[in-house]
Amino acid sequence: MKNLIDLLTEEVSKAFEEAGLDAELGRVGVSNRPDLCEFQCNGAMAGAKKYHKNPFEIAENVAAKLQDSKCFESVEAVRPGFLNMKIAPAFLNDFLKEMNESEVLGIEKNTDNKTIMVDYGGPNVAKPLHIGHLRSAIIGESVKRMGRLMGYNMIGDVHLGDWGLQMGLIITELKNRKPDLVYFDESYTGDYPEEAPFTLSELEEIYPAASAKSKEDEAFKAAAMDATFKLQNGNRGYTAIWKHIMRISVADLKKNYENLNVSFELWKGESDADPYIGPMVEKMKKDGFAYESQGALVVDVNEETDAKEVPPCMILKSDGAALYTTTDLATIVERVEDYDPDQIIYVVDKRQQLHFVQVFRAAKKTGIVPESTKLSFLGFGTMNGKDGKPFKTREGGVMRLERLISDVNDEMYRKMTENDSIALTEEEAKATARMVALSAIKYGDLSNQASKDYVFDIDKFTSFEGNTGPYIMYTMVRIKSILRKYMEAGGKEDTGALQMPENAEERALMLRLAEYNATMKNAFEELAPHRICAYIYELANCFNRFYHETKILSEEDETKKCGWITLLKFALRVLESCIEVLGMEAPEKM
Ligand code: ARG
Repeated sequence: MKNLIDLLTEEVSKAFEEAGLDAELGRVGVSNRPDLCEFQCNGAMAGAKKYHKNPFEIAENVAAKLQDSKCFESVEAVRPGFLNMKIAPAFLNDFLKEMNESEVLGIEKNTDNKTIMVDYGGPNVAKPLHIGHLRSAIIGESVKRMGRLMGYNMIGDVHLGDWGLQMGLIITELKNRKPDLVYFDESYTGDYPEEAPFTLSELEEIYPAASAKSKEDEAFKAAAMDATFKLQNGNRGYTAIWKHIMRISVADLKKNYENLNVSFELWKGESDADPYIGPMVEKMKKDGFAYESQGALVVDVNEETDAKEVPPCMILKSDGAALYTTTDLATIVERVEDYDPDQIIYVVDKRQQLHFVQVFRAAKKTGIVPESTKLSFLGFGTMNGKDGKPFKTREGGVMRLERLISDVNDEMYRKMTENDSIALTEEEAKATARMVALSAIKYGDLSNQASKDYVFDIDKFTSFEGNTGPYIMYTMVRIKSILRKYMEAGGKEDTGALQMPENAEERALMLRLAEYNATMKNAFEELAPHRICAYIYELANCFNRFYHETKILSEEDETKKCGWITLLKFALRVLESCIEVLGMEAPEKM
């Protein structure tokens, strides 16, 4: 179904046309002065410039044409030329009824079957997940869910960092520690053991040790680079070790992402792009795009309009090795071949922006991606600590994701059990705390515009008051609790249709609910989950104001009471849909 704002815009546009003016002028927006009106249109101001007329006269003229409109209760021309409008309750009510009857709450799904890939997560195999990967996972998952809700065929790809120097470092360190392992016997031609020569925790210790050593020991570093090269060129023993690392590490990653309520359709990695590199490079050379410059192979990607110079995109280093850009380009080749996506969205730290500018331009220029395929970079800012510096552990180290999550879980559990008025078993309380803690982390992140840095403030994020995940959860639990009590007191399963709003708070709540589909649509178009957060915060506020003004369960008028219960169920559905898109779940009690 159409969005409310579009329906109102149509109506006002018609009035502009009837007044002999351009219909385009009739664009309606939600009022930013809710004390004065609910909707407004500033078209008369633009019209005044265009037609050299008095703006107030235009506004008056248009307002007159809207006096009998079924959409509006009132339309008022205000100096110097605004149109202030209040919606007609019956119109609003009909709109909401239709929305409530729709299984998808009136979302107009995209029907052209577009495929959109989201490249997010981007963890590096064998290195522990740290909070730098948290934002990508949270934002990417939300973007993917939004797109799915809007009817697109969404494919999430974790795009593992599984082909780089870290692999050579681990192999080299392992060789130093256990040189007799069969993997290092060049003459061995038999099968390799199924069991890995290390456990997950050993692996987690080996990588940092090797990484530290490579910074001090030139020879070690050279050996690691050589091992990486050999791995990338199919050395059997190294490939077998690599497979062990992958199996152990990916199982751990999956567990971690599951805890975050994040899941991927594809578990591909940089290594999967490897076979595409050779033919891609050949073609780029043959087509004359790639040329040699100081020994390296590059593609020029600068454009005349660039304010800042964009350096050439490096395809191969002078020693013939592939780079991060090469892998990303080859991954595009692979994706086009396998899925022919209409769009690829990369959810990556904004500090990698230049890399993606180069990759996108090179991909378009060399034709490895069709002109029509949209390549989008959704760059996110840094998650900082209260000191304004990138978030660290109390000891000053890199914060591991598992640790962060368990810290927030503990804090949430503590807060919840402080208030022992709700009867929850310890197990229930723990499970609930986990759910609410996840909402604290995710909402704390998603409520900020992705590109901005933000401060991870555990006290603020876990608070039940203010613009937080727990506040949203609390509001939903409150609605669930009223609905439960209603049923326990012998309430009806089917409480019938929505009623006309009784008071200002109810009307405000209804108006907010009616904004759901436009909000979802805009949020996806702008790849902006923070718009959904802003929406549910307002919605939760509207609900709570309504709740404080209205005695729902003790209402004696059965029709009124039923209408309110219907409204509550409806509000809960809208909230559920929004938090589902944000990748959260609300508990039954808290
Ligand atoms: N593994 C990379 C990192 O940790 C992120 C990968 C982002 N995605 C991509 N296609 N480059 O920085």
